Formats: sequence, structure tokens, C-alpha cells
Amino acid sequence: MGSYAVTGSASGMGAAVTERLSAAGHLVIGVDLHDAEIIADLSTGEGRSAAAAGILERSGGGLDGAVVAAGIGPVPGPDRARRIAQINYLGSVELLTALRPALAASGDARAVVFGSNSPTVMPHVPRMVFRAIRAGKIEQAVRRARIFGRAAPNFAYAASKLAVTDWARRAAVTRAWAGAGIRLNVIAPGPVKTPLLDAELADPVAARAFQSFPNPIGGVGDPGHLADWVMMMLSPAAAFMSGSVVVVDGGTEAWFRAGEW
Ligand code: NAI
Repeated sequence: MGSYAVTGSASGMGAAVTERLSAAGHLVIGVDLHDAEIIADLSTGEGRSAAAAGILERSGGGLDGAVVAAGIGPVPGPDRARRIAQINYLGSVELLTALRPALAASGDARAVVFGSNSPTVMPHVPRMVFRAIRAGKIEQAVRRARIFGRAAPNFAYAASKLAVTDWARRAAVTRAWAGAGIRLNVIAPGPVKTPLLDAELADPVAARAFQSFPNPIGGVGDPGHLADWVMMMLSPAAAFMSGSVVVVDGGTEAWFRAGEW
């Protein structure tokens, strides 16, 4: 049986992945703010270091897979854009970078990053916010996002997901990742019924925007279905996958971008 690290393991899609891995008999090292093997705040450098150290200690230095699902959504709030960039981007990229040697040690590991369909379906994700996040310049990203006023968290969210996807696709195909036998891929969900989406839709402006969004299949996704896709991306079926983005969003991305292939 394998050893897997899962961030955001206490809720939503991270919890559904954790359940499936545990049911299959694997050792799962969950990381979250509560109800996890490792309690760590991935918004801070200390939290990320403590999480990485805890995972490496519990796994004995070898990992078969890592799933970085911890994230927060774009609800209004003064400090929200900063926390979005810290958790969604640094909480994924810095942690995976610290875990890379342990993944490489297995020789045939898998890593799955939670992106989102938001960068592809939101018109004009501001490149200046994206570029600042990708460079790890969080304060600069926050200043740039503030230009958008109340919508700053929405733009910061899409930019954080674009940045983490961009990072994963670039890293995936390098010697350090593909060359070490690690298949690094991205899952990009559309709206999925979790506490994150519930919090977002509690805002009447977001709820109205959501209702008017094209959604060919209709409704919202089920966390278990998304977790099933992640399980595929952790399985031998992903042996020939590297830097791919698996979009599972009810058809919204295809609606906007059908002609872009
Ligand atoms: P959720 O809110 O159910 O679970 C997220 C988990 O991350 C929670 O357990 C939370 O405690 C943890 N977390 C948040 N901040 C943290 C921090 N600073 N340190 C450690 N853990 C922290 O959310 P959900 O929906 O399952 O989201 C999982 C991933 O999927 C996120 O990255 C989210 O951005 C992404 N996503 C979600 C969509 C949705 O509609 N639910 C759509 C597209 C992407």
C-alpha cells in the first residue's frame, strides 16, 4: 500500500479523496487547519514548512502521491485577496516543491494540483495580478488586485488558479518532475457542492452572477465525482500524463472556448 499526502483533507473534495485513499488501504497524511493528521496553516511560510516536515516524518521520506486541495474561495473581504494568493498558490507550490524529493524517491509517483475552470471562463483575468502571484510577490499582487475594488477577491482567485496551473504545467515536464518519474497534473473543477461554494453563493451578487453563467449540464458537481477523477490521476492510468489539465465543469469551459483547440 502507498503513502499519500492530501492538503485540505478535512472538507469537500480533499476529504472525498482522503476517504477513497483510506478505503483502498493507503496511508493518508492529511493536512488542514483542523481534523487532520497534521494541523498547519498553509497561508504562512512556517505553516508550510511544518506541514512538509510532518509529512516527511510520517511517510519516512518516501511518498507515492500528493494532492494539494487546500484552498479558499472568492468571498468579499478586505484581506481576502492576500489569503487567496498565499493559500491557493504558495500553499500548493511551496509544499509540493518541498515534497518533490520524497515523491522522486518512489520512482513512479503522482501529484495532483487543484486548479479551477475560473481562469478559462472569467473574461480578462488580470495578467498583472497573475504575474505577481507567479513571482511569489504577494503584496504586489494584492495592490494590483485592489484596483478591482469589491471584485478584487474574484480576480485574485482566478489569477491564483492560473498561476498554480501555469507553475504545474511548466514544472511537470522538467527533469526534476517528469524526469524523476513524477506525473504532475492539474484538476480544474467547475462549481462543486462544498462549503467553499456555499460560502461564495451566500453573497447575493455572486449568487446572481452564478445563475446567469452558462452551464450546459446544469446544477453543480459532486465532490465524490471529482475525487474519482483525482483517484484516476493517482492511478497507473495516469502513467502517460504529465502537465495535463483535466477540466470537470459541466461544460462551461467548452461553452466559452470550443473553438480554441
Ligand atoms: P472546502 O472549503 O470544502 O475545503 C477546503 C479545505 O482547505 C478546508 O478543509 C479548509 O480548512 C482547508 N484550508 C483552507 N485554508 C487553509 C489553510 N490556510 N491551511 C490549511 N488548510 C486550509 O473546499 P473545496 O471546494 O473542496 O475546494 C478544494 C479545492 O478545489 C480548492 O483549492 C478550491 O479552490 C478548488 N475549487 C473548488 C471549486 C468549488 O466549486 N468547490 C471549484 C474550483 C476549484
